[in-house]
Amino acid sequence: MPDYAGAVTRLPVVVLISGTGSNLAALLTAARAEDCPYAVTAVIADREATGLEHARAAGIPTQVVRLADHPDRAAWDTALADAVATHRPQLVVLAGFMKLVGTPLLEAFGGRIVNTHPALLPSFPGAHGVRDALDHGVKITGCSVIEVDAGVDTGRILAQAAVEVCEEDTEATLHERIKAVEQPLLVDVVRRLTAAS
Ligand code: GRF
Repeated sequence: MPDYAGAVTRLPVVVLISGTGSNLAALLTAARAEDCPYAVTAVIADREATGLEHARAAGIPTQVVRLADHPDRAAWDTALADAVATHRPQLVVLAGFMKLVGTPLLEAFGGRIVNTHPALLPSFPGAHGVRDALDHGVKITGCSVIEVDAGVDTGRILAQAAVEVCEEDTEATLHERIKAVEQPLLVDVVRRLTAAS
């Protein structure tokens, strides 16, 4: 949507991470394109994740909301939802966020939270999707971008991409190849969802 100066008004996106933030980095790189319909306006982590560096390098506000700093899980859920809501995002992206989100976030942003998962859902949900697929002996795995609901990786599937499993794969080598297709897939979904809003 162009503003009065003809510039594109970008929709605000908040990204939640726990890890190295390669998916976050891909979102930030894509956001440098002139026609990108979104801007990452904050990055929030549940720990001092190394991926926060990508946001700091780009001058984007970061926040760490640790479970251990709260009396219980419910208090943390509320603090997380409040931290996200401060930035009034159009879309919330879980990019390697290794905690289930609670009712406060789901109630505030229901239908506007997406998650990326390193397996072809509904197979291999949960925290060890790559390892579980490898252990099962599948020949094709991949990644899924889903709409987040109250279940564990049960939400509506928005996009998927397949990755072949090689004979010599370890969890690490397979996860690296999955991440290589996961990053553009996530960028594509986030672009699509923010462009259509
Ligand atoms: C991604 O593969 C994501 O699907 C999974 O953990 C990984 C996070 O990677 N839940 P990164 O932190 O974005 O590099």
